[in-house]
Amino acid sequence: MLKALFRKKSLAQHLASIESQPDKLSKKLTWLDLTALGIGAIIGTGIFVLTGTAAAGGASHTGAGPALTLSFIITGLACALAAFCYAEFASMMPISGSAYTYSYAAFGEVIAWIMGWCLVLEYAIGNIAVAVGWSGYFVDLLRGFNLHLPGWMVTDYVTAMTRFEYGTTTPIIQTAPHLFGIPVVINFPAVLINLLVTVILVYGIKESSRVNIFFVILKLAMVFLFIFVGLAYVKPEHWGHDWNTFAPNGFSGVMTGAALIFFAYIGFDAISTAAEETVNPGKDLPRGIIASLIVVTILYAVVTAILTGMVDYRTLNVPEPVSFALRSVGENTVAGIISAGAVISMTSVLIVFGLGQPRIFYAMSRDGLLPKSMGKIHHKHKTPYIATIVTGVFVAFFSGFVDIGQAAELTNIGTLIAFILVSIGVLVKRYTDPDLPRPFRIRGIHFISIASALGSGYIAWSLPSITWKMFWIWLMIGLAFYFFYGFRKSRLAGKPDDIPGKTS
Ligand code: ALA
Repeated sequence: MLKALFRKKSLAQHLASIESQPDKLSKKLTWLDLTALGIGAIIGTGIFVLTGTAAAGGASHTGAGPALTLSFIITGLACALAAFCYAEFASMMPISGSAYTYSYAAFGEVIAWIMGWCLVLEYAIGNIAVAVGWSGYFVDLLRGFNLHLPGWMVTDYVTAMTRFEYGTTTPIIQTAPHLFGIPVVINFPAVLINLLVTVILVYGIKESSRVNIFFVILKLAMVFLFIFVGLAYVKPEHWGHDWNTFAPNGFSGVMTGAALIFFAYIGFDAISTAAEETVNPGKDLPRGIIASLIVVTILYAVVTAILTGMVDYRTLNVPEPVSFALRSVGENTVAGIISAGAVISMTSVLIVFGLGQPRIFYAMSRDGLLPKSMGKIHHKHKTPYIATIVTGVFVAFFSGFVDIGQAAELTNIGTLIAFILVSIGVLVKRYTDPDLPRPFRIRGIHFISIASALGSGYIAWSLPSITWKMFWIWLMIGLAFYFFYGFRKSRLAGKPDDIPGKTS
């Protein structure tokens, strides 16, 4: 039994099961497509929404303050270490499924399952948080055109208890209509955008990638617009005059901020989920991963420094902090443009994440750990359409009801666990499979791998205890599913002759 839990799937077996598929994903993506895919996934809700919460730290001001720039740099460094580990893995195993596939090779099946389960948190729950952030800026944008949606249609139940109806001091919960005595509060824009994105994704990968490149160019233009306009309004006194005013809650505030805004970096790893659709994965994957991470780290540090330099950090606890800061200094038109840009940015994040999740399900189904239907490829569009639709409907439903902070923190914990496993796994593979070709090879693997695991671990440890509790519950559900289904149905559970590529 123990042996079966840790049965491994080698690269040869992975490649053989890809060959045995009747319908394959089409290979069309280049490293520029991948970099755009990365930037498309990375810049979004984290920088446009969570920055405000992380700096201000809620009503009690327990956030990082102006030192949030430091939180971004710390998190960026931890992500860079993980990025190297992802890059080596992706170049060594350029196949669909990302960290899930890597764990199957490095640690064996049960850990691979846990990884796949964590990736659901990253991609599916991540898209819930992004859609809620999207909705906040979309509502702000509509207001610019004098269209006001009532609070109960644009928020979730928990937020409705503390947030006021726009322009009043009445909590939204009191203005909501009732059905059978229960107040009705549903974030409709978040639900609808997720359904729309699902339709685009079923239509096809190249089409989605083209739409994404267009979004990425627009999004970068918005970020630069904010930097150039905002720079003129920076008042250095907002940054504080010593460590205590720069970091009002000390280093623990900096780390609490880091644990939340880690969300802003998630996405570079999504590139590796498109490995099977890449023309030259060995070279293109590492290039795409590292290029996109460098670009965003620089942009984030600059944007945060400007944001906290423009206004008092305590005022940033709003759903649209970047536009809010611009409006505070009288730049209303630019604020409107940025709101439009934020909506576009978050749409591209939804696309990349929406692209990633079904491809992980596809890989898991190919291995027998999920039902076959999840791996079905559409005969015309060549996309894993059933997995895409299942994910899209699940995410759309929950984005109508979930609070952004909780969704983001749950996403972070799942992703950080994935980072830790990948970081350790890449080192383990050096010992268990030293001869496997590695077009991208980390120098100083021992240091990078261990520092990466510790860095991600430290950020995860800084997350609230409620997030950890939710994570353990999620893990238990996942393991129950594995023992009832995946363990028995796994392709590696069949007779050795049934397993494609099995040589011994
Ligand atoms: N990094 C992505 C975002 O911030 C998830 O929206």
